[in-house]
Amino acid sequence: MAQKKLIAIVGATGAQGGGLARAILNDGNSEFSVRAITRNPESENAKTLLQMGAEVVKADIDNVESITEAFKGAYGAYCVTNFWEHFSPEKEVRQVKNMALAAKAAELHHVIWSTLEDTRIWVPLSSNAMPTLMNNYKVPHFDAKGESNKFFAEQGVPTTNLLTSFYWENLIYFQMGPQKGEEGKYNFNLPMGDKKLPGISVEDIGKCAYGVFKAGGEYIGKTIGITGEHLTGLEMAAKQSSILNKDIKYNHIPFDVYRSFDFPGAADLGNMFQFKHDYEDYFCGIRDIDLSKKLNPELLDFNSWLVKNKEKIQLD
Ligand SMILES: NC(=O)c1ccc[n+]([C@@H]2O[C@H](COP(=O)([O-])OP(=O)(O)OC[C@H]3O[C@@H](n4cnc5c(N)ncnc54)[C@H](OP(=O)(O)O)[C@@H]3O)[C@@H](O)[C@H]2O)c1
Repeated sequence: MAQKKLIAIVGATGAQGGGLARAILNDGNSEFSVRAITRNPESENAKTLLQMGAEVVKADIDNVESITEAFKGAYGAYCVTNFWEHFSPEKEVRQVKNMALAAKAAELHHVIWSTLEDTRIWVPLSSNAMPTLMNNYKVPHFDAKGESNKFFAEQGVPTTNLLTSFYWENLIYFQMGPQKGEEGKYNFNLPMGDKKLPGISVEDIGKCAYGVFKAGGEYIGKTIGITGEHLTGLEMAAKQSSILNKDIKYNHIPFDVYRSFDFPGAADLGNMFQFKHDYEDYFCGIRDIDLSKKLNPELLDFNSWLVKNKEKIQLD
């Protein structure tokens, strides 16, 4: 049998990279094998990947030498950053630069970079449409990623920029699910007005990325957007009402109110939702359901995601 092409996966112990690792490892006929990159090979998630057949390698994207070593000998890499671990756009930019330098040094044939928009291209810092945050950003966790696309291009790394969508898992793990209202009723709070929000099951991000690698060179040098479905808050609430069998009403939260919430990153997310709302045509347009299905025939829509996850959505 021909030797398998190795995919080095940053974030393999997490949601996006884990989805890609599982997509490859669960496919007995895959032309690829998995190198799971983690800072902690002793973690439960790392051990599970090892048991599933992945190679597990210790590396840190804050350290360019360590990530270069981890990329060596690989055919390709999946690159993702976790802004929410440190809340620093500057650190995120440095981490992406390190991965691009490492990809170049390791002579990778294909990198998938999990990115988002630099919203300042649409909403310059001089605009009063939304507040400027951390002196230099409109949506810090988007802008830092979008700004960093250039590093792979500068290094001449064969790259696919993968624009991801809102995880529906935020309804389970990020307290964005329905909140108790009056007399057995629930509110689905979302600052999206009457605009559509592209969403996805996070496991499908990895499955789509697998489709991108399987397509060979087709998506190299391209920016593609993936999503399971585009839905308004009203539509999301109606689907939750029906599958969860509760009275769930959509409640638009004004952007300023969302920005003022007392949790870390609230202003960043308030601006993010406003961006998705104000630029709905662009934002939904580039996140292509047909392409996502082509890359991943198992792609879930919101209804099938809800059926699969209804027990995990806490309604107290
Ligand atoms: N939530 C959403 O709706 C949404 C939508 C689109 C995009 N995103 C973006 O998704 C990103 C997070 O991805 P995720 O959800 O897959 O993350 P996650 O499940 O929280 O996992 C984070 C992963 O990153 C790895 N990691 C973090 N820092 C690292 C470092 N210094 N060196 C090596 N590995 C490191 C972790 O590995 P170890 O801990 O094992 O080292 C872990 O595997 C965020 O930047 C966010 O902006 C989120």
